[in-house]
Amino acid sequence: MKARILVSRAVFPEVIARLAQHFDVSSNQADEAWTPLQLIQKLQGKQGIFTTGGERIDAALLAACPELKICANMAVGYNNFDLDAMTAAGVLATNAPDVLTETTADFGFALLMATARRMAEAEHFLRAGQWTRWRYDLFAGADIHGSTLGILGMGRIGQGIARRGAHGFGMKVIYHNRSRLDAATELGCKASYVSKEELLKTADHLVLVLPYSASSHHAIGAAELAQMKPTATLVNIARGGIVDDAALAAALRNKTIAAAGLDVFEGEPKVHPDLLTVPNVVLTPHIASATLPTRLAMANLAADNLIGFLLNNKPLTPLNAKVLI
Ligand code: GLV
Repeated sequence: MKARILVSRAVFPEVIARLAQHFDVSSNQADEAWTPLQLIQKLQGKQGIFTTGGERIDAALLAACPELKICANMAVGYNNFDLDAMTAAGVLATNAPDVLTETTADFGFALLMATARRMAEAEHFLRAGQWTRWRYDLFAGADIHGSTLGILGMGRIGQGIARRGAHGFGMKVIYHNRSRLDAATELGCKASYVSKEELLKTADHLVLVLPYSASSHHAIGAAELAQMKPTATLVNIARGGIVDDAALAAALRNKTIAAAGLDVFEGEPKVHPDLLTVPNVVLTPHIASATLPTRLAMANLAADNLIGFLLNNKPLTPLNAKVLI
């Protein structure tokens, strides 16, 4: 008998078709928003779930879904999973790393450039019919080339951004991370390890690429923003909650820093109302990995994890492999 799985959000029809070759699939191609209780109801009798990063998998859900064996996230971040609770319940968690690294690093760089060169503000000005003549300082921003790029969180995506900055734009790259990279990786990225304090004080542009956890909650708040240069830009493509959005809006309004580019928000898809009223911030709706080829590769990797595990006990990218033994 085929295992039963739930795909909790709309995804590529070809991925649903692949899954249907192996499983009895319940899907949500209408992309309805389910409450946690509805998710539990839909999961009854299912052995697997394909999640997209927003669905909370915690002890309460696991207790109510005793047949569940695997949750496969179509995202590299997995802060929607209570990994300890999943491990305790013997439920496998998988994520979708690597396939999105370069696409996400491209976007981080694009958001950095749009922020430093004030592209969103300038476009709004033009669309509003306010462009009447040239001015020497019209939307004058900050240079990217030759400046100092700071990266907080130096995993695969952080390294991709470092390579783009160092090799493409002649930037000096500094980083801070839980652990220092080995010498060969640092050399490949032309990146130097510094303390968090040094990073905040020295970076002309600071990009956040660290995973969200209790210890990274509000890693950038009022105190950290106050240590940055008044000309600095801040880019967050990591997770909402890493930045204190209210403190950031105040810092942008007071010109504590020059500008910010944000792809992720505390409590998204809601955005802190103060961020919507400051001009010097570029806002995008969590799209850093959003190219069609990359999103398809992420969906296929989540599907491969379900197929590999439920058919052969061999997931590709397990997060808690100890449940396999
Ligand atoms: C996107 O935010 C991801 O974690 O893949």
